[in-house]
Amino acid sequence: MTPGFLRKLRYWWHTRDPDVRYIVEVGVDEIPEERKPIPKTMVPPFSYVAESIEWNSRLLDDPSLVLYILEAAESKEEFETRLHGLQGQVKHLVASRLEPEMGPRLLIIEGERLNAWILTYGVIITAVRLEEPGLGVSYGLDALHALDEWTGKVRVVVAKLRRYMYRWGPEFSVYIRGVDNQHRYLVTVLNNLYISILAGEEKKVVDETLNSLVDYTKFHFRSEEKLFDKYGYPRAESHRRQHEGFVKKVAEFMEQYEAGEKQLTLSILHFLSEWVKNHILTSDHDFGEWFYEKGIPIIDEEMVEACRRARQRLGLQ
Ligand SMILES: [Fe+2]
Ligand SMILES: [Fe+2]
Repeated sequence: MTPGFLRKLRYWWHTRDPDVRYIVEVGVDEIPEERKPIPKTMVPPFSYVAESIEWNSRLLDDPSLVLYILEAAESKEEFETRLHGLQGQVKHLVASRLEPEMGPRLLIIEGERLNAWILTYGVIITAVRLEEPGLGVSYGLDALHALDEWTGKVRVVVAKLRRYMYRWGPEFSVYIRGVDNQHRYLVTVLNNLYISILAGEEKKVVDETLNSLVDYTKFHFRSEEKLFDKYGYPRAESHRRQHEGFVKKVAEFMEQYEAGEKQLTLSILHFLSEWVKNHILTSDHDFGEWFYEKGIPIIDEEMVEACRRARQRLGLQ
């Protein structure tokens, strides 16, 4: 984490709600009595979190990605507003902020000689990245243990993260109910994958979701292409090539993933979901408009109006 990153974060927050204090000074010598002892139910023993950390500890390797997931936080209550009363050692701080029902949280810890990001989900720490100038970067359990022994001053930012990447809205409509439903499902699977990664789900669970995403995407592309053939959509060829390009890219990734050469990271999921979003909003939208202009009977007239209004609101063409 660089000071620039923190400045950006500060700027981002102030533009949304300047009244909320989100950065606190934490001194290690001032552990308030009421913070000791920490209730057992709220403290995951480190042996419990270990398995979760090892698998996806490199999730937080990319500052721009961290910024991205922060920006995905819901604007109202995502940043903790009760932090100003919180003081203690890092381990107390982390543990005392975790509650079983909590969704994904990102803690950014900035000290004189360390910078750390901790991703938590409920009471589970799912990823840790620690950077110590002169000592380098460590991840996972090593990083957590080092943090646990830290005794210097730190500043902490806590962000509550969204439980989804983005949601399907009327602006995604292509005016054809069957295709819209397929897109909704695709977005749902992408969101499931996102939450599986943040929550540090077992690889087996992530694999199942990933495989269903790959299969469903192929099925969906075939469905669209059948419609193009049936009604003579003139830009079918270039559209088909976009589908093929995506399938090829995903297949390349899957090959490396299955060979254990690559992990499914948030960067990769970000790429997949952004491709899907942009494709629906531009290329798929184009065939929707064409079908509408041609008066093809499968068009859902109600969605045309809803979609156009939503797109106008969002400044989309
Ligand atoms: Fe599509
Ligand atoms: Fe498409």
